[in-house]
Amino acid sequence: MLEGIGLGLRSPIAEPLFQESPRGLAWLEIHPENYLARGGHYETLLRKARDRFPLLTHGLSMGFGALRPYSPAALAGLRALLGELSVPWHSDHLCFAEVDGVYAHDLLPLPFTEEAIEVAVQRIREARDALNVPIAIEHISYYMKPAGSLLSELEHLNEVLERADAKLLLDVNNVYVNAMNHGFDAHAFIAGLPLERVVQLHVAGHHVRPDGLRIDTHAEPVCEEVFALFEHTLKKIGRRLPVLLERDDNFPDFGELLAEVTRLDAIYQRVLSPGEPALAGSAPRSA
Ligand SMILES: [Fe+2]
Repeated sequence: MLEGIGLGLRSPIAEPLFQESPRGLAWLEIHPENYLARGGHYETLLRKARDRFPLLTHGLSMGFGALRPYSPAALAGLRALLGELSVPWHSDHLCFAEVDGVYAHDLLPLPFTEEAIEVAVQRIREARDALNVPIAIEHISYYMKPAGSLLSELEHLNEVLERADAKLLLDVNNVYVNAMNHGFDAHAFIAGLPLERVVQLHVAGHHVRPDGLRIDTHAEPVCEEVFALFEHTLKKIGRRLPVLLERDDNFPDFGELLAEVTRLDAIYQRVLSPGEPALAGSAPRSA
């Protein structure tokens, strides 16, 4: 079973990642878009990663709330890669990023409405059928309540999960950032989720602007409040699962990143294996 703390495979950390194969780091997450029909450097990166770690895939471009039909060629390429990697599920975001050919290059929130739920449910089912793997959806961070919303974010997310019979990639930092920016209780949000559907967690750092707005950057250290919410969430879930430390930019010294992995692993072992030492059983598959 794939579980424990993972890191995203990113070029700036690839060299120390492959040289050190650090203890406490159990798996890697990849964005399939980076490796489809690329060759060269990316093919080498993927091969080295596969030789050393179990992998999970996390997409950036399916946009489960978008209106444009999926590209059959893109789906076929993704299906082939997921099959080759034998992943237990594939995850992507509950959002949209494009309207009438104009791309935002960002993950945009859906209106929390019945109509948006129906679109997402249909697309998640379509993706599951086309890719032949279970689909996990990740809820995003957002900075204004989408116009026309008649439901709360929690009601909207739960309806999509239930009707699409989807799995949930629960991003603890997204919950915290949204709770702080929109003034809701992060613990109540977690308590209201169908936690039996959670297959993976994300933990990340965020930026706090001088005016107090929190921006989900994945470019800062994880803050104390998010470590605490991670521990709370893990206790509520109460079972082993993969947890990703998301770091996409402003990379610190690799030792600093590993210190965050070690801290997450210590919490993970304390919550799920009380009485056993941290780092037990989470060594990489091979050196
Ligand atoms: Fe995330």
